[in-house]
Amino acid sequence: MTMLLKNAEVFTPEGFKPRDLFLSDGKVFVLSAGSSETGKASRIIDCKGKVIVPGFTDVHVHLREPGFFYKESIATGTAAAARGGYTCVCPMPNVQPAPSTIEALQVQLDIIKKDARVRTVPYGTITQNQDGRSDLSDMEALAPYVCAFSDDGKGVQSADLMEEAMRKAKKTGRLIVAHCEDESLLHGGYIHDGAYAAAHGHKGICSKSEWIQVQRDTELAEKTGAGYHVCHISTKESVSILREAKRRGADVSGETAPHYLVLCEDDLQEDGRFKMNPPLRSAADRDALIEGILDGTIDMIATDHAPHSAEEKAKGLAGSAFGIVGLETAFPVLYTCLVRKGILSLEKLIELMAVNPRKRFGLEGGFIADGQPADLTVLDLARRDRIDPDSFASKGRATPFAGWNVLGKTVLTIVKGEIAYEETAE
Ligand code: DOR
Repeated sequence: MTMLLKNAEVFTPEGFKPRDLFLSDGKVFVLSAGSSETGKASRIIDCKGKVIVPGFTDVHVHLREPGFFYKESIATGTAAAARGGYTCVCPMPNVQPAPSTIEALQVQLDIIKKDARVRTVPYGTITQNQDGRSDLSDMEALAPYVCAFSDDGKGVQSADLMEEAMRKAKKTGRLIVAHCEDESLLHGGYIHDGAYAAAHGHKGICSKSEWIQVQRDTELAEKTGAGYHVCHISTKESVSILREAKRRGADVSGETAPHYLVLCEDDLQEDGRFKMNPPLRSAADRDALIEGILDGTIDMIATDHAPHSAEEKAKGLAGSAFGIVGLETAFPVLYTCLVRKGILSLEKLIELMAVNPRKRFGLEGGFIADGQPADLTVLDLARRDRIDPDSFASKGRATPFAGWNVLGKTVLTIVKGEIAYEETAE
């Protein structure tokens, strides 16, 4: 199918420009505004008043299939992605069977082929049992089919095992993507070990349980020369450690999630919607994370979309499962809270959500230029909306942003030149 997107402000490598886009054979061609040959397109869409950006890429989602279909599926998770403006997602390997061998990965790849609405490039595990402790996975065999290696949900507990993993991953050219968590420091904690936990009698998770592994791993990345990426950074110490490692020239990068940028422990409520791992930290941590995205220490924003059943999330802060959904709220929340408040430019937000993830993970696309993949998101920045979990395409409903009034809505998501989501079709 050929398509013409007319009259939009388009995010080009030179910034936002009035352009028309012609889509053909899954590729995009950039035309000057208004000069387009409308006759050639089988569908013409007027995007007046909208912006078109490279489709977002989320390198950290949990799609729960195979194994945990009751929480989410490849079909529902990627429908949520498309609805949130994402054209590419990378599902984490805490599924059953965990993709530590080609045979196990194949189960997931078959479902992706059948059901995925957007590009879906899974992770392979670091360890055989995806437990941060067992022998290493079949990295060499997995490498051609995975975006990177991670044991997300579990930190790699010993330095020796992480060093071995980095050396092995380096040979494959894939990144090690680490959930940093030293289990010996957890002591049964489930929210940040700060003022709220102390005041309300909750068990805390200390910041050190995260940053101690960021420190260990960035040093190991320097020693081995491996490419290394830190998942869901939540502490100010981790930001400083990553900043210093980059300054020394290590091949390291990091992500944080929308909730760590706009919320902190002061916003906690006695509700499972506010429980995720790592937890919402202090206001000082939140501010350091914002500084980190502004100065380029933190390279990208990923959602850590982690759906669970209503029952699993209904047990308060102590008893609920860790994890909140994020694919359908990330852009409007960040646009409203950071861009509209003048903290971040829209261009920078697009870099963090669309350009940098694809660049760092070696995924094709991520910018709008002639001959590039037609992975595009059309946004109506003026549109006001109230976040309503009942409207989500995801099976997960737990979000701390429920009921928020936000600006900025995805109206159209295009993957490989085909429509993956269109608002009017809802
Ligand atoms: O909150 C979280 N949920 N953090 C993780 O690291 C894992 C994730 C999940 O899989 O539910």
